[in-house]
Amino acid sequence: MTRSDLAGKDYISTADWSVEELGYSLDVAKELKAAFAAGEPHRLLPDKTLFMIFLDLSTRTRNAFEAGMTQLGGHAHFIDAATSQIAHGESPRDMGIILSSYGHGIAIRHDKVPGEGNAYMRDVAESSSSPVINLQCDEDHPTQQLADLLTIEEVFKTRDLSGLKVCVSWAFAPSYAKPMSVPQGLALLLPRFGAELTIARPPEFRLMSHVMERAHGLAEEGGGSITEVEDMDAGFDGAQVVYPKSWGAEHLFGKEDEALDLNARYKDWICDRRRMSLAREDAIYMHCLPADRGSEVTDEVIDGPQSVVFQEAENRLHTGKALMALTMGAY
Ligand code: CP
Repeated sequence: MTRSDLAGKDYISTADWSVEELGYSLDVAKELKAAFAAGEPHRLLPDKTLFMIFLDLSTRTRNAFEAGMTQLGGHAHFIDAATSQIAHGESPRDMGIILSSYGHGIAIRHDKVPGEGNAYMRDVAESSSSPVINLQCDEDHPTQQLADLLTIEEVFKTRDLSGLKVCVSWAFAPSYAKPMSVPQGLALLLPRFGAELTIARPPEFRLMSHVMERAHGLAEEGGGSITEVEDMDAGFDGAQVVYPKSWGAEHLFGKEDEALDLNARYKDWICDRRRMSLAREDAIYMHCLPADRGSEVTDEVIDGPQSVVFQEAENRLHTGKALMALTMGAY
């Protein structure tokens, strides 16, 4: 296969792409990162339009894709679902037909309700004549996870993650019940490249069973593994990558007060200097951001020498551009 084979392909989950296809997107991201750093123009999508529909807030995703599309020579059109007819219930099928008749790609964030976002995107994709990119749903955050994978590749200088010990841990947050999509997306992706993933979480914070079933199957095919523990210290023990972040309990989405009361029972699930000392000395600290400083992580850790969070955030731009370029026909 070649890069051009990815033109028109939806990117709704990393699980929908082969390891080879994901590898192409990492290669393109690295090329675009180098071109951006050198100030070399790379207008690969001149006059193309991406429609970006947001049913939730965003800083990194919206701005990485909007700036990225400008740098590629096209235009990313922001649609706040709350001020569009989506809020009146316009069907995803109709959105797919109409927006794809106006432009060349559709990107969607719909992450707040378990059971809804991924299905919504797949409905849009079925009727759209343009590719659909998932900007975070209830099941996966595949544009974030590609940036995470690029960051790990840059730090460890290899794409082969065989034997790499990664701990994805639940962490306390008082702000809101965060989607489950990031830990699930990491479980779906990293073991396919060989990583030995440990998920540490309190008992109430199990991830979606059908997603984890898929992740286990993919891990087996890819040579990696997934283990779950109910102890943050045990998860951190000997890890080379730690990725502690909060997520909501599946049964409490939509019941925010109850969700935050449950979170508050686990205030000691914080990534601090003591916990970092349980991981390998050269371990890196990752977080998709935004982080609840002082709750999920101490300033000392997130601003410390082991943290790669700003490299990871920057990589949202380069990987987002690669996905747009590949799916929207730059090659
Ligand atoms: N990491 C991430 O998706 O950030 P935003 O919610 O700001 O887009």
